[in-house]
Amino acid sequence: MRVEGRESKIAQRLLAHYDVHARRLPWRAPPGSNATDPYRVWLSEVMLQQTTVAAVGPYFAAFTARWPTVEALAATQDADLMAAWAGLGYYARARNLLACARAVANGHGGRFPDTEEGLRALPGVGAYTAAAVAAIAFGRRAVVVDANVERVVARLFAIATPLPAARPAIRAAADSITPDARAGDFAQAMMDLGATICTSRNPACGICPLRQDCDAVWTADPAAYPVKAAKKVRPHRMGDAWWIERSDGHVWLVRRPDKGLLGGMRALPSGAWSDDPDPTPPFAARWTTLAEPVAHVFTHFSLALRVHATHVGIGHVGLDDSPPGDGEWWPIAALDDAGLPTLFAKAAQMAMKEGIGDARH
Ligand code: ADE
Repeated sequence: MRVEGRESKIAQRLLAHYDVHARRLPWRAPPGSNATDPYRVWLSEVMLQQTTVAAVGPYFAAFTARWPTVEALAATQDADLMAAWAGLGYYARARNLLACARAVANGHGGRFPDTEEGLRALPGVGAYTAAAVAAIAFGRRAVVVDANVERVVARLFAIATPLPAARPAIRAAADSITPDARAGDFAQAMMDLGATICTSRNPACGICPLRQDCDAVWTADPAAYPVKAAKKVRPHRMGDAWWIERSDGHVWLVRRPDKGLLGGMRALPSGAWSDDPDPTPPFAARWTTLAEPVAHVFTHFSLALRVHATHVGIGHVGLDDSPPGDGEWWPIAALDDAGLPTLFAKAAQMAMKEGIGDARH
């Protein structure tokens, strides 16, 4: 779409503001520069989906130090990558990350495709990531809409339709203000504006560079945009996990099935989280239930995870010294290296804090 009039003023004003105020972020080239490594842009964009800039920072640094190129990442073992991702959440992203790295390394000679369409064809690369990488890494004009951009655009045009029905209108409006040149800077400038000024609550309209362009600023409550459909109540579930500590300071860890929630991640053994009031432990023993369940919120439900702990001597669990199922005895002193997702890291913390394993009798 051609950009003119009000729309082109928005891009000009925003880019001028970005030239001065762009956040300095590890995956970013300075405003106006073309020196961006597509690998770093792609990696950061995958990490930044559903995760804050602050949380991503240390992971991005660790990943790029350990795997400086897409070929290096492609050559890593699945389990090492999943462990390095632990704590970032939304683990399907990590599995897709590896599939995509391998496709780029093996099918594209280590070079990312430089168009939105070519990027979109890579495994796990959706419309958002393809647009973001095309714009930021390759300077292509692409319409990049994440939650921050969605909010800024809904306010600029005072779009009153509730989400998600408003998405096509928001996208069309974002398209109408995206410039042909510097689309990557423009996208990141919109993200910065959403993260720092046009915030979800208490937007700082007084210092906004787009104040004179904004329709919502004239309304009683600019923060009311984007309008949200009535919230669905998140269902709540109860589940159980088992802390099995061996007298030599090891705990029994399993790997979750590849498909499903936290797929492929190391974990404590746990049941189906199906609100069973009387769950069956993995084997008969004296189990102590921790005083408080672990509370955790997933996208589609919240969970109270009861943790049951027992202490076993070497050779006391079954003939081969192992609880049923696939798993491994992991040294408790090195539990940080197991790459437990946050839910199980919290459960382990609580089990260790309550010292169930210390009651050795
Ligand atoms: N969120 C997603 N991508 C981003 C980027 N490139 N800069 C800042 N925040 C972001």
